[in-house]
Amino acid sequence: MILPIVAYGDPILRKKGSLVQKDHDGLEMLIESMFETMYESHGVGLAAPQINKSINLFILDTSPFEDEKYPNLKKVFINAEILEESGEKWEYEEGCLSIPHIRENVNRKPSILIKYQDENFDVIEESFDGIAARVIQHEYDHIKGILFIDHITEFKKRLLKNKLLNISKGNIDVSYKMRFPTLR
Ligand code: NI
Repeated sequence: MILPIVAYGDPILRKKGSLVQKDHDGLEMLIESMFETMYESHGVGLAAPQINKSINLFILDTSPFEDEKYPNLKKVFINAEILEESGEKWEYEEGCLSIPHIRENVNRKPSILIKYQDENFDVIEESFDGIAARVIQHEYDHIKGILFIDHITEFKKRLLKNKLLNISKGNIDVSYKMRFPTLR
């Protein structure tokens, strides 16, 4: 089922996602719907708060990047915890399905060590770097109530003020289904 994506301005995007229990009602279906929703909107990652669920769950499929190191990285992260970030920060232009038509350079460290549970609730500790780490860091931020625009300078953020206001009011053209905070 394709779910509407929560737009910038909705308070749920600022909440920390709670831990997911193994018997979480309808979890398998929810994960399936998240993949469907992500593909429909041409995203490479999607976090549960973006579909109005304040839980520690995100998914990704980085295959559009054609990254040699991770050619078909399609994954579910439950109760994720980044244990370590390392390396010299590098700049990369990020976007977000909740903040359409805005892209900004964000600095993040290139390598991470993350502990998470997969869709079978097996505990995994894994390292990622480059683009894969970048997508994970972006989605992990969502679980903590952080958005990529929080990483840009106040000056740049001021320049985006009107665009952001328009997104929260639903005054944008977007090709996928969204849910706007002020139109409820
Ligand atoms: Ni995002």
